[in-house]
Amino acid sequence: MNEIKILAFETSCDDTSVAIVGSNYKVLSNLVSSQTIHDEFGGVVPELASRLHIKNIVKLTRLALHQSGLTFQDIDALAVSTNPGLIGCLLVGVSFAKALAYSLNKPLIAVNHMLGHIYSNKIANNELSPPYLCLIISGGHTELVYFIDEDNLEVIGKTLDDAAGETFDKVAKQLNLGYPGGPIIDRISKNGDPNFVKFPRALNRKNNFNFSFSGLKTSVMTYLKNQDADFVNQHISDIASSVQQAIVDSLVSKTINYALLKNVSTIVMAGGVSANSKLRFQMEHKAGKHNIKLFYPPLEYCVDNAAMIGAAALDKYAKREFAPLDLNAFSTKGTRIL
Ligand code: KG4
Ligand code: ZN
Repeated sequence: MNEIKILAFETSCDDTSVAIVGSNYKVLSNLVSSQTIHDEFGGVVPELASRLHIKNIVKLTRLALHQSGLTFQDIDALAVSTNPGLIGCLLVGVSFAKALAYSLNKPLIAVNHMLGHIYSNKIANNELSPPYLCLIISGGHTELVYFIDEDNLEVIGKTLDDAAGETFDKVAKQLNLGYPGGPIIDRISKNGDPNFVKFPRALNRKNNFNFSFSGLKTSVMTYLKNQDADFVNQHISDIASSVQQAIVDSLVSKTINYALLKNVSTIVMAGGVSANSKLRFQMEHKAGKHNIKLFYPPLEYCVDNAAMIGAAALDKYAKREFAPLDLNAFSTKGTRIL
């Protein structure tokens, strides 16, 4: 069979990304244009993000084709993330993919963004196959999912309030560290003491697999109110490291507890927060101790990218799971609707 080539789009938040993915999840091109315009606001401004997607998407598409030495005629299908995400942003990708599918007369494939994150693991680990326990941790989501296939998945736990990435971002804002906060906290924590402040680990009963991070955020706020500015500046790495440790402890303990309870042999991490070095180290250590296999994506595929959307679309292409041209975007959260 000829090699399949999928042209994929990802515009759910503040990264415009276009990729071309070939058979066996081979990435022929993966371009990401990260929007720095939001940095000064300490969070994503949806309207600005949508407008930048419109500005970027044509250029990136041309460049992706050029980089991989292909033309539109070589493409077998168009793929796009439809949900969850910022509705105005999603609509840019969906409208563009639909227009191309119509004008080129090629099939259109709709991909849930969270499923895309799970598939980011396939790019480097072709041999990875379900079932596995998947910890999906991004800026907007925190879910522990038992994954058999996309029609067969069980949400074991999810956050009751803030997502893990959101917590990193909000705490970084409180500490005046900039946006997005996760990578910054990760970096400065390397020089800090993770036990400097004992921040709370919420819902830490062994059989509770939901997450909660809003108490941690409040606790950091209260802590900072009671310290003077010089002390905070002097110990910024220690405070950041202590917050990171509280988030990582919750993520690791709940995932490992469930894996042990149900004899799960493979854990997969996905989403922006799976780039976190402390989380990778601690999960690796705990999984190794119990002979559980652990997978996480290469750094470039942890955060939002279109290659993961193309990878998820490949399996849908094989099943001829095509979307109609009246496909719409929707912002519904979670993996439930794949
Ligand atoms: O998956 P993603 O790119 O976008 C969403 O779907 O939300 O995740 C973005 C999130 C941000 O909250 C960012 O701070 C976080 O991932 N993040 C990290 C790291 N790199 C990105 N969090 C902790 N440590 C990191 N190294
Ligand atoms: Zn994402």
